[in-house]
Amino acid sequence: MPNRKLKIENPVLINIGKLADRENTEAYVVGGYVRDALLGKEAEEIDVMVVGDGTSFAEAVALEYGKKPEAVYRNFGTALVMIDGMKTEFASARKESYRKDSRNPEIETATLEEDLSRRDFTVNALAVSLNKKSFGKITDLFGGLKDLEARTLRTPLDPEKTFEDDPLRIMRALRFASRFGFNIDPDALKAMNKMAHRLSEGVVSQERITNEFLLILDTPKPSTGLSLMFLSGVMDHVFPEISGLEGVEQKQEYHHKDVFRHTLTVVDNIAAVTDDIWLRFAALVHDIAKPMTKKFVEGEGWTFHGHEEMGARMMNSLFRRMRLPMNKLPYVEKLVRMHLRPIPLAKEEVTDSAIRRLAADAGEDLEDLLKLCRADITSKNPKKVEKYLKNFGIVEKRVIEVAEKDKLRNFQSPVRGEEIMKICGLRPSRTVGMLKKRIEDAILDGLIPNEYEDALKYLYQIKDEVISVPSKD
Ligand code: CTP
Repeated sequence: MPNRKLKIENPVLINIGKLADRENTEAYVVGGYVRDALLGKEAEEIDVMVVGDGTSFAEAVALEYGKKPEAVYRNFGTALVMIDGMKTEFASARKESYRKDSRNPEIETATLEEDLSRRDFTVNALAVSLNKKSFGKITDLFGGLKDLEARTLRTPLDPEKTFEDDPLRIMRALRFASRFGFNIDPDALKAMNKMAHRLSEGVVSQERITNEFLLILDTPKPSTGLSLMFLSGVMDHVFPEISGLEGVEQKQEYHHKDVFRHTLTVVDNIAAVTDDIWLRFAALVHDIAKPMTKKFVEGEGWTFHGHEEMGARMMNSLFRRMRLPMNKLPYVEKLVRMHLRPIPLAKEEVTDSAIRRLAADAGEDLEDLLKLCRADITSKNPKKVEKYLKNFGIVEKRVIEVAEKDKLRNFQSPVRGEEIMKICGLRPSRTVGMLKKRIEDAILDGLIPNEYEDALKYLYQIKDEVISVPSKD
């Protein structure tokens, strides 16, 4: 990259440069902003590094915009100012690592060179001057421009030292590799392998590791980051259940014959049709219990009976361990539990009743479940894939039609428990539940339409018979 200057048109950066001159301070735009600008992408945040006192300078900049910084961390020498809706972080040049949760936040002021050498990757260690006399000039001490061109992630110093300073950088390497399709320099990869265990030793908080993991899942082709995670040994420490899928052989009818490779393809397939990180997560874990349920059955080959149920049950402890948001747990459990349900509907003549039950059980997540099932077809044979997808398209259409027609999205009996109790003179009891279930079954089996009047009529028809059966409570 011959260009040693970055063209800066962002008015916020131009202003910061003018203020830096006025305050007699050296200021640089650094980190992701520079990297992304050189890659032709627009960054969402600005990082400004100041040789000197970053917090006082941030206050001066904020004042110029008629405000105060949103946050000042004097111990860290950093401050955040929102300028024209853009998150702008100011930091004093520093000698020690860029760990945000460092337990030892006392910072030592440093030169530009010292600061850049403490950063994670050469492509993130470029600084662009904002002062007038050198406006736009790129300082590249570690060959970051060359590495950007070669699309390589390399550490400015010895990789072991860089990862020792902050083991989260191992995850960051995987995230950048996945996001930009970059290679990881072999020495850095070796060091990642050697130091991966640091990620499971409590040095870095689980929340930060999980955050990086979800960012990998959020990239356009997550398999890039996930396979590198596996190859570097990081998966064994961060998500051993996924590593455990490698080498688990399965039948090849719909799927790739190795469960790990199959899973990666399913994740890429789903990533092509949705940005929803939880649907992507469900795709990643849908077969997680295959290793534990694998059994060889004569004449059938490898079977995995009950893996969907066992997988769903594994989610609770997994969510807790990985500090994933518990409000997403029911959704992921449901998709894992139901991921096989639509498949048989594509094969045989199916009744409306089976279709209605699927729609009612999936509820508002029906479309997501169908997307997951499509993504789950990873056979290597394009003719087979085409055939399965075509059959599945027919099912999909039918399921959605029936679900819409019968209003089965948030399905439950149109005659509610309260009313059943009033009509039948019952207290809250199992009998009320049985009556409700009979009404729901009648609707799902197509005996009566999903309408209040019909359900009420049906209740009068069956109530005496149901009530006469002695209840246990
Ligand atoms: N940095 C680092 N080590 C870390 C975190 C950050 O060296 N563990 C440095 C890098 O130079 C990075 C800069 O701090 O470029 C800003 O960090 P951050 O905002 O977290 O990441 P970006 O690289 O800006 O990437 P993005 O915002 O796109 O995630």
